[in-house]
Amino acid sequence: MKITVAPSILAGNLVDLRSSLSQIRESGARWVHIDIMDGHFVPNLTFGPQMVQTLATYKQDLFFDIHLMLEHPEYFVEKFAEAGADLISIHVESPCNIAETLQIIRTLGKQVGLAISPKTATEKILFHLDFVDLVLVMGVHPGFSGQKFIESSWKKIELIREKNPEISIEIDGGVHLGNAGLCIQKGANILVTGTSFFEAPNFQKFVQQIEHE
Ligand code: DX5
Ligand code: ZN
Repeated sequence: MKITVAPSILAGNLVDLRSSLSQIRESGARWVHIDIMDGHFVPNLTFGPQMVQTLATYKQDLFFDIHLMLEHPEYFVEKFAEAGADLISIHVESPCNIAETLQIIRTLGKQVGLAISPKTATEKILFHLDFVDLVLVMGVHPGFSGQKFIESSWKKIELIREKNPEISIEIDGGVHLGNAGLCIQKGANILVTGTSFFEAPNFQKFVQQIEHE
């Protein structure tokens, strides 16, 4: 499977996201991971649809990978779809009708993702595997960039890959050059990198190194 690096803009320069977007583009990465947090589902707040829409003005050929960490993603999927999302992931732990919300994302013409937090049993998402394009496996407890990778996440990736050889598996949180290879070996093909990307001395080299793991 082709390996894709998805730099997370949350770890970029928050007063100059346009430059962070340019750095991602110049690195050769095509995916931009955008973390949306509501202060309820996770203890942090980030960006709203208007921010994404403004960023989309500079999007060109980039792919916006929207990660919704929201108590009520069903109220917002349409807004993020209009704002420029290419893929929208919701969390299986969100207290909404998951199947219905995934269907809304599909109807909006966007790729469909389902995210799972470290504490949740992998079995919770298996029922939805045939419907979604991507499973987002959290490598950290959702909420903040810069946390340490939780190694039990590898088991989740392995189990999902075993059940479905075709599906995209995105690993998100705590990924760096030292553990990216193992994430890929376990079955992940999309690697979100926030802190490790923006702290890399050479963005292009960083992306190439992960893509050739
Ligand atoms: C955490 C977010 C991650 C985070 C990744 O809730 O979903 O996408 O921004 O950042 P790093 O790579 O620094 O862990
Ligand atoms: Zn994320």
